[in-house]
Formats: sequence, structure tokens, C-alpha cells
Amino acid sequence: MAYQIYIDEILKAFDFNEADDPNILDFLEKEGVEMHSHCRAGFCGTCRVNLIRGEVYYSGGLPLACLREGEILPCCCVPTSDIEIKTY
Ligand code: FES
Repeated sequence: MAYQIYIDEILKAFDFNEADDPNILDFLEKEGVEMHSHCRAGFCGTCRVNLIRGEVYYSGGLPLACLREGEILPCCCVPTSDIEIKTY
């Protein structure tokens, strides 16, 4: 399934395809978007971004890092709809 990821800061959308990319972080880095990351496994919270609209799915279950309302961890989730994020 393909969904669009829109990033507020750069006013640009990218077409994400789950068949090609395991998570949002890997995909956006491949597209040249500068992202913060460390553990890449849902533990540290370094990659957190704000989800403005849309839905995501954590295939490995909910991550261990603490999240505020509206935050997601792109290192371990995929979109299940078109999404809009704010990367801080
Ligand atoms: S990079 Fe550590 S939680 Fe995403």
C-alpha cells in the first residue's frame, strides 16, 4: 500500500510504499530528509516527530520510549493513511 507523507517544515510530500521500506525513518532518510535518530528500535525517543494528521502502525507492538500526545516514532512505524508530520 502506498501513502503520502507530507512534512510541514519543508512543505514537501513523499510517496511511501511499505513493500519497499520497513519504516518511515529509513524511507525519509533515503529521500534525503535530515532526521534525528539513535537506537532505531523504539527505545530512545530521539526520532520522535509530531503527527499532525493521519494514522501509523507499529508492526513490532507499541514502542518503549515515552511519547506525548500526538508524537510518533518514525524508526518503528509505517503509515496506514496519508500522514502529515512536523519534524521539529
Ligand atoms: S531512534 Fe530511538 S526511538 Fe527512534
